[in-house]
Amino acid sequence: MSFKILGTGSCLPQRVVSNEELSEFLDTSDEWITQRVGITERRVCTTETTTDIAVGAAKGALEMSGTTPDELDMILCATVSADHAAPSLACSVQAMLGATCPAMDINAACSGFIYMLEAAAGFFAIGYKRILVIGAERLTRVVDWTDRSTAVIFADGAGAMVLGPGKSYISSKLVAKGGDTVLSIPSFEGQSPFYKNKSLKPYVHMNGQEVFKFAVNAMCTDLADVIEAAGLTIEDIAWIVPHQANARIIDAAVRKFNIQPERCLKNIETTGNTSAASVAILADELCRSGKLKDGDYIAMAAFGAGLTSAACVIRWEE
Ligand code: UT7
Repeated sequence: MSFKILGTGSCLPQRVVSNEELSEFLDTSDEWITQRVGITERRVCTTETTTDIAVGAAKGALEMSGTTPDELDMILCATVSADHAAPSLACSVQAMLGATCPAMDINAACSGFIYMLEAAAGFFAIGYKRILVIGAERLTRVVDWTDRSTAVIFADGAGAMVLGPGKSYISSKLVAKGGDTVLSIPSFEGQSPFYKNKSLKPYVHMNGQEVFKFAVNAMCTDLADVIEAAGLTIEDIAWIVPHQANARIIDAAVRKFNIQPERCLKNIETTGNTSAASVAILADELCRSGKLKDGDYIAMAAFGAGLTSAACVIRWEE
C-alpha cells in the first residue's frame, strides 16, 4: 500500500490581507497576531471559488507530473469549505479539468490531506495508476468576521499532488478522538418548520487553548510514531512538513525533537492557516525550492477538528 509523488502544485488567491488591515475592523493588532500566532499576512478569496483555487493547484501538479486529465483514474479532494455541500469539490474540479474519472471528497478537517494520502494508498493497492489529490479551502467563507480569535488565523489556498504507483509512502498514522465541542463549523440548519433544536451560527467555533494543547501533543506523538514505524530516527528526516496552525505549535515540535528549525518548514507567516490545504501547499513549496534530494525522507503531520490528527513518512524519489 504505497505510491510515488509524480508532481505537486499550489494556488493562492490574489488578494493579500495584512494584520494592519484586519486591525481596522477587529479589536486586534499586528503585534498580537505576530507574537501569538506567527502570521503577518494571508491570502483571501475575493472572486475565486474553492473550485478555482483547487483547479489552479491541480494544474500545477498535473504539469509537473506530465499527466493529462484524461489519464487520471481518481480525483480526491480534502476540504471543509467546498463551494457546495453537493456535488463534491472533486466533481467540480473534474468538470473544470475535463477529466472523466471518479471523484469524491474527504473531510478530516485540517488532517484531511494526510487522511487522503492513506485513502490513495488503498486505491493503489487495488490497481489504480494515477490519482490527483487536492487540499483546498476557502475558510474565509466559514469564519465569523466579528470573532477576533478565529478571523485572524484562517485563510484561503489550495495544494495538490499527482500520485502514481511506487514505494515512497513508508509509514502513516491516523487518529480521531471524536466529538465536536472544541472545534466545529456547524452546518446551515435549513428552514424545516419541524426541526426544533437551537443551532449555532454556521461559522468556526474554536476553544483555541484546548486545540493548542491537543495539537502540540498529537503532532509530537504522531511524528515520533511514524518515524519509528519507518525504521528511522529523527536524524534521518530531512524535512518536517507540519500543519501551519500556529508558529508556536511548530516551534514546540522543533524543541521536542531538538532539530534545526530550518528542517521544520514554516510558511504560516504569509499563508495563515489553510486547514486541509496547508501541508500540501508547503510540500509544493519544498518541491519547487530545489532543496529536495533524491532519497530525502519527509515527515508530514497535521491535526484539527474531530479532533483528528495524522502523520506519515514519505521518501522523495526523483
Ligand atoms: O488548524 C486547526 C487547529 N487549530 C489550531 O491549532 C489553533 C490552536 N490554538 C491557537 O493557535 C491559539 O490558542 C490561538 C491563536 C487561537 C489563541 O492564542 P492564545 O495564546 O491561546 O490566546 P487565548 O485564547 O488564551 O487568549 C488570550 C487573550 C484573551 O484576552 P484576555 O481574556 O486575556 O483579556 C483573548 O481575548 O488574547 C485575546 N485575544 C486576542 N487579542 C488580540 C484573542 N484573539 C485575539 C486577537 N487579538 N486576534
